[in-house]
Amino acid sequence: MDLGSYFQQRRALVDKALDDILPKADNDPLSFNAAMRYSIFAGGKRVRPILAMEAAELVGGKASDVILLAVALECIHTYSLIHDDLPAMDDDDQRRGKPTLHKVFGEAVAILAGDALLTLAFDVMSSPEAIRVYRPERLLKALNLLSSAAGWQGLIRGQFLDISMEGKTADETTVTQIVAGKTGALLKASLSCGALLAGGSPKEVRLLSSLGDNLGMVFQIKDDLLDIEGNSKELGKAVRKDQNKGKVTFPALLGVDDAKDRMRHHLKCALDTLEPLGERALTLAAICRYVGNRIN
Ligand code: IPE
Ligand code: IPE
Ligand code: MG
Ligand code: MG
Ligand code: MG
Repeated sequence: MDLGSYFQQRRALVDKALDDILPKADNDPLSFNAAMRYSIFAGGKRVRPILAMEAAELVGGKASDVILLAVALECIHTYSLIHDDLPAMDDDDQRRGKPTLHKVFGEAVAILAGDALLTLAFDVMSSPEAIRVYRPERLLKALNLLSSAAGWQGLIRGQFLDISMEGKTADETTVTQIVAGKTGALLKASLSCGALLAGGSPKEVRLLSSLGDNLGMVFQIKDDLLDIEGNSKELGKAVRKDQNKGKVTFPALLGVDDAKDRMRHHLKCALDTLEPLGERALTLAAICRYVGNRIN
């Protein structure tokens, strides 16, 4: 299959839904809308929404069944990037090929825009439309999975550990917890909630959750490798920052070559999880390979 045009089509669906749901751009100088839209439309890869759609199709649903989830996931992810880039955190000036939100709108507005995107995600997921389209027990379960993934046991915990461990020596358990929290949790929720909302069986949801555990490792190790070996123009963000900041990563812990082996190991585990599903998991398998081979 042509993964490039597949991604293009899926991204267009996600972008249209985000455009419909986010407050409209206006020319009011006191408007907050432009700040909310700025990072969302700066050009992310939309990996989490695409995973949710693929999980939905895998269990027999349609990509459009999970469009509200797709929007919510991208809002949560983008909020996490806006806050991650703040001077108090990773202090980055470039994101998605553009100056970071706080560089353009100031730190206070960046904090608020992040807060607004995070809350918008749950607004969308509990909207009258969500209540109309999803069965109540599925919707509540998905909301619970999504809030746990974003919250103190998930993404926020990972970010806390990432920041707290800067400059320290970490063991493998701690690095794994950082990765599973800051990156794995939301990727895993994208897959499990996508399957759940599209009517997947408990077994299918479990399988996709376990895929998410491995894909989270692949995704973040690749991100850490790209920080060392990648190109800032292609990535749209600064490179070679992690070592200066003393970030606790798999390449820092194991060295680049062993980190690559570790990433390949998790990619293989991810593909092995999909193996029993045969043909219907081919696209998801291709996405997993893309995550491990990407250049941005
Ligand atoms: C970057 O995520 C942050 C990590 C979790 C490593 P992505 O690589 O998905 O960033 P965008 O959305 O494409 O900008
Ligand atoms: C960020 O990890 C993860 C989240 C934003 C939750 P990184 O700090 O490594 O991501 P980049 O490299 O800034 O995109
Ligand atoms: Mg960070
Ligand atoms: Mg960062
Ligand atoms: Mg990084």
